[in-house]
Amino acid sequence: MITGQTKLTGLIGDPVEHTLSPYMHNAGFSYFRLDYVYVPFQVKKENLKKAIEGARSLGFKGLNVTIPHKIEIIQYLDILSNNAELIGAVNTIKFDDEIKGYNTDGLGAVRAIEEIEPIKNKKIIILGAGGASRAISFQCILNGASEIIIANRTYDKALKLTKNLIDKLDADAKAVTLGDELKHELVDGDILINTTPLGMHPHINQKPLITSDMLHEDLIVNDIIYNPTETVHLKEAIKAGAKTIHGIKMLLYQGIESFKIWTGREPPVKIFEKALRDHI
Ligand code: ATR
Repeated sequence: MITGQTKLTGLIGDPVEHTLSPYMHNAGFSYFRLDYVYVPFQVKKENLKKAIEGARSLGFKGLNVTIPHKIEIIQYLDILSNNAELIGAVNTIKFDDEIKGYNTDGLGAVRAIEEIEPIKNKKIIILGAGGASRAISFQCILNGASEIIIANRTYDKALKLTKNLIDKLDADAKAVTLGDELKHELVDGDILINTTPLGMHPHINQKPLITSDMLHEDLIVNDIIYNPTETVHLKEAIKAGAKTIHGIKMLLYQGIESFKIWTGREPPVKIFEKALRDHI
């Protein structure tokens, strides 16, 4: 029940209608019997500043931030966590005396992978060079990955990201094009992550960027797309006998990390996972 003491959290983005985050966070709040509520708010770009000022005035405890505000939001925050500063994007805010921005997207992906295998000393190959690739690649280096390969359709975008990884973290990072260069890197790759929208519902049969013959069975393949569960990239991985990680795991763990930031408590993975699977 919502009372005079209920603490407010939520999501700002545009659109927000199909978000699964309320199911996870509200399930977590009820599990711990915390008097908190999580509500999504559609916020247009031009209203972002007012939305943050309003949330602060209304005594919000925390917010998630999604597309298209993850970068723009930074100018309205007082401080950033170390990884949010490096990544240059924020998906979680905590309101205290100061408003602090965090990034749990990369953390979510890394935790999903580390359920199976530690990231430390691994060669990671990432398909795509957009916002998700940026958050994940930085976090992989922060977690001790030995090498990052960014494979992208537009080579210049991959190059820009790898330059950033080298400048900011002294990473062993390299940009490649799709096709033969990618194929060559995959031979001794440990982990492959798809961050492109290829294969996302409703385009579930789009041609994948890799085929099973380019993969090997010691590879771990993660797709951050969660609808469908088994994407075209994961199907190729299964054909090659590689281990797979579903996109739902990143969503799950980025949510768990945000929940921890707001409440200081670690919700059981099962509670968040059930909330997601019941509504996906
Ligand atoms: P996000 O911020 O969610 O990561 P994004 O910034 O739109 O999304 O990035 C999407 C990535 O997927 C980009 O790297 C994009 O490649 P380009 O840099 O060449 O645009 C990649 N991508 C999108 N559609 C693609 C397709 N049909 N084939 C190959 N790559 C694609």
